[in-house]
Amino acid sequence: MCGIVGYIGKRNSKEILLDGLKELEYRGYDSAGIAVLQNGEFSNFKAVGKLINLEEKTKDFITKGFAIGIGHTRWATHGKPTELNAHPHLGESSYVVHNGIIENYAVLKKELLADGVKFLSQTDTEVIVHQFEKNLKSSKSAFDAFSKTLKEIDGAYAILLATKSQPDTIFFAKHGSPMLVGINDEGEKFFASSDTPLIGQAKEVNYFEDGDFGYVNPSEIVIFDKGSNKRKANFKKLSQNRLSAQKDGFRFFMEKEIYEQSDVIADTLMGRLSDSEVIFDELDKSLFDGINEIKLCACGTSYHSALSASYLFERYSKIRTSVEIASEFRYRDPIMSKDTLFVVISQSGETADTLETLKMAKEANLKTLVICNVDNSSMVRLADSCILTRAGIEKGVASTKAFATQVTIFWMLSLYVAKLRNSMKKEEITKHILLLREIPSSVKVSDEMHEKLTRLSKRYLHGHGFFFIGRDIFYPLALEGALKLKEISYLHAEGYPSGEMKHGPIALADPELFTIALLPEHMLYEKSRSNVEELSARDSTICAISSLEFDKADDFIEIKKSSHYMLEFFEMMVVLQLLALEISVRLGNDVDMPRNLAKSVTVE
Ligand code: G6P
Repeated sequence: MCGIVGYIGKRNSKEILLDGLKELEYRGYDSAGIAVLQNGEFSNFKAVGKLINLEEKTKDFITKGFAIGIGHTRWATHGKPTELNAHPHLGESSYVVHNGIIENYAVLKKELLADGVKFLSQTDTEVIVHQFEKNLKSSKSAFDAFSKTLKEIDGAYAILLATKSQPDTIFFAKHGSPMLVGINDEGEKFFASSDTPLIGQAKEVNYFEDGDFGYVNPSEIVIFDKGSNKRKANFKKLSQNRLSAQKDGFRFFMEKEIYEQSDVIADTLMGRLSDSEVIFDELDKSLFDGINEIKLCACGTSYHSALSASYLFERYSKIRTSVEIASEFRYRDPIMSKDTLFVVISQSGETADTLETLKMAKEANLKTLVICNVDNSSMVRLADSCILTRAGIEKGVASTKAFATQVTIFWMLSLYVAKLRNSMKKEEITKHILLLREIPSSVKVSDEMHEKLTRLSKRYLHGHGFFFIGRDIFYPLALEGALKLKEISYLHAEGYPSGEMKHGPIALADPELFTIALLPEHMLYEKSRSNVEELSARDSTICAISSLEFDKADDFIEIKKSSHYMLEFFEMMVVLQLLALEISVRLGNDVDMPRNLAKSVTVE
């Protein structure tokens, strides 16, 4: 998804902008660009593809002394990923970068075209800079023209604009897309659409609120809120831990993140378990007063963790639970009743569809809770309550550790609610607490297991499709396993409830149909086993994952024996992640930045 950086200061602006963009690479992009204004002149560079292409184009460009600069990584929405469509976009003497969508761009563009303005790109963004320059002609100042422009555009955006008419200033606006400004002791100012590019540069950051706009120059940061009232910046110390954002010797971020799961889950659990209960200090116990239903809403991998949660909430908390795909929920006129707790789940906290459902729930006066990995993200700031998953920065586009920590939180939360509702005996909760403490060891990757999966992966590089099958909570895990494979191998894969295969998909069974069968010893083993036997009898190639040996399988991945199905869930999760990773590696794909995908989807 698109990323923004900006810089005001005396150091090498080009390098600061490019370094910042590199930190945003993990979000996914298909072109990039920078514009630097120095001594009254703009220098602008754009390139399609990876940042290395932009670095090549800028290799002879040197900045010395004071300059202002803006940069962007673009993930195409309006118009193809071409150089002309890459940001920054140029007017006559100004440049703009933008994340989000300008919904009324077609109307504005028509008017501007009628005025004789020439457009170079097919993007919605370009109207911002032309509209600004049109307003500049009749305004007292560049800031007046900028404010007027914001009133004329509709949609979601984070914008940075630089103009020759005020060459030491960057104008900014935030409405629905994330944006922050950072400062340090050297008087430099930085902008970015997430805090990673500012680590090591800025000391403190201010996260803009929706509706904020204003300008920044070497001596001041001027912010107006959505009511056009001047407000003070709210600077917070920025964590300087860049180490966790590096690969640590692993080939890919995804691989590193799979291996990290044991540690991050330990962090997720930290301080949240006593011997006999789950403690969420961040939750007000009254959150569940008067609540008779939990509605979970999310996209992608987070949707799969939500589906897993529904099994836990109904089984342990004895509370009615429904799960919704955010992009569907938004437009289907859902019934919102006050006795529902509305829970959104998101790694990034910025996914546009999920964020929108949270706004809907707020408007309907429902109690809201977000399970999120990014503090200060839009969802965290909007929801009534928040539980942070503590997975650390996740860079691989295919989510792994975020999913693992989300499910951990849900298991804990189901016990927390069970206690409030008296739906589980004290001894049972105590038993579960002990099991929760075992997750970090059940997700530890052994060399033996990784080697086995690397060897096995060579047999699964073709075929006409994969079915990942499971029952109960292993069905959402099957969905997640299939999603992981699709995302990074580009092979067709589906997740299916084992018991449902005979109602259609079994017609596809032949040796070229690969079935990845989840056979947990402690959850409906016999039932799942017969479902797999039905497929085996029809000659589907079977890869079974279980702690119990299964002779009807072509391949067998043995997991450790454990005492509970949730521990089997976590170990199988790791197997599925590694299998997808090794298949993708063999196919020569870009594991961390798979084609067509973005880490954080901030447009609908
Ligand atoms: C994108 C990512 C997925 C992620 C989904 C939801 O599609 O590629 O990995 O699961 O967005 O993201 P969220 O940040 O809301 O969990």
